[in-house]
Amino acid sequence: MAREQWKSEVGFLMAAVGSAIGLGNIWRFSYLAYEHGGGAFMIPYLTALLTAGIPLLILEYAIGHERIGSAPLAYAKISRRWEWVGWWPVCFVMFGIVLYYTVIIAWCLAYFFYSFGLEWGADPDQFFFQKFLAVSDSPADLGEIRTPVLMGLAVIWFINWGVVYGGVQRGIELANKILMPTLMVLIAVLVFWSLSLEGAWTGLKAYVTPDFSKLTNPKVWIDAYSQIFFTLSLAFGVMITYASYLPDKANITGSALLTACINCGFSLFAGIAVFSVLGFMATAENKPLADVISQSIGLAFVAYPKAISMMPGGNLFGAVFFLCLVVAGLSSSVSITEAFVSAIVDKFGVRRQPLVTGVCVLGFVGSMMFTTRAGMLWLDIVDHFITHYGLVTVGILECLVIGWLFDLPMLRDHINRISSVQLGGIWDILIKGFVPLVLMVILIGDLYQDLRVPYGDYDWTALILIGRDWLLFTLVLAFFLATRPWRTKNHRRPGRGAKT
Ligand code: PHE
Repeated sequence: MAREQWKSEVGFLMAAVGSAIGLGNIWRFSYLAYEHGGGAFMIPYLTALLTAGIPLLILEYAIGHERIGSAPLAYAKISRRWEWVGWWPVCFVMFGIVLYYTVIIAWCLAYFFYSFGLEWGADPDQFFFQKFLAVSDSPADLGEIRTPVLMGLAVIWFINWGVVYGGVQRGIELANKILMPTLMVLIAVLVFWSLSLEGAWTGLKAYVTPDFSKLTNPKVWIDAYSQIFFTLSLAFGVMITYASYLPDKANITGSALLTACINCGFSLFAGIAVFSVLGFMATAENKPLADVISQSIGLAFVAYPKAISMMPGGNLFGAVFFLCLVVAGLSSSVSITEAFVSAIVDKFGVRRQPLVTGVCVLGFVGSMMFTTRAGMLWLDIVDHFITHYGLVTVGILECLVIGWLFDLPMLRDHINRISSVQLGGIWDILIKGFVPLVLMVILIGDLYQDLRVPYGDYDWTALILIGRDWLLFTLVLAFFLATRPWRTKNHRRPGRGAKT
């Protein structure tokens, strides 16, 4: 069977943007911007985007397109010895990230319904941690499965299954062509609505007022680079896979620039809604902004619900906000599922549809771990290890393997032949030297920090058994899959008379 292909380049772009825009754009970006100097954070953020994000995105698109394969196949076509570098991210996103990412989307789905009746009552903090999740005292104390979360999770995996089952064109491309415009409309509604709230300006001022003194802190730069990686879905094997479905002639650099601009523009835009609402709440409660601000989970499930309860028409506002998170999250989780499915199909030649069903059932069952009372704690630990160590290590290996062991000038020629924006030699320097160097600094910085103080005040046993070992398990799995023999051959694009 011939390799599937996107119907149009716009379709590919929508899917790539769908993967890039996720929960991270809404809650992680805004908090980082505030924490790291408001408007001044734009300097490290844009620097990271230009010096690492875009060059690496171009690399991932190029390698998927030129080698015509999901991450493991693309690496295997570079050298069989490095095939595991393709498998590792595909394994840790499928058997790690997507398992808890879907659980968070399930929380958002539940909160979407709760919004209509402002179900969280007067104390959203207590509602979220004690009533909704009933978080246990330690990761070792699993407790029972939380039914509302489990129900939401089943819905999310069902949608995931439906989309990926449909295939590249009639599943992923179609879904993103609906989901992405919907998301843009929803976020625009939120932004304009939030701007009309009293006190919105107080929040916005904090969001954009630059505090340049923060820029001397290395942590600000490290966070900017990590955020760029996470937000562009780099080093996850996802973008390589999506680019492998492009036709022969595809504008690699143009698409990479557009994906990056839309993704980062979305973050900036969503930040307006986040900060206007926080400004509104600070004004209403007569508190300084710093007292109402919080990050990630606290922002979406505690601070926001509080504000929603206070504003006129809040229930509708809340519904739109949580729907945004659900839509943004879904298109990302679909991309992860696809990256894994595509890798298995490429290597073992199994039939796609039964595989998708199996993978989604497995994903659902695996996710259940995170619906227990200790789920939030597990999620926090696994996320920390995978995104801080797995992701960064894969990024380094990616640059080294493709930059040094493969023919980078040839790849650049390939890109330039088909792209609108031409790449110069500076790209080679960034990929071969600068990006891996930055990533190594981040890796060492994180390691130093984690060895000094245990992450999140968890005890060492939990961090080692849940965090480190989870990551190692995916690595072992990657090695195992890489050593299996290939059951397919002649991976070509359709229309060249070759079988896949
Ligand atoms: N880029 C997504 C976000 O910002 C996260 C993601 C990770 C998506 C891995 C796909 C793969 O939330």
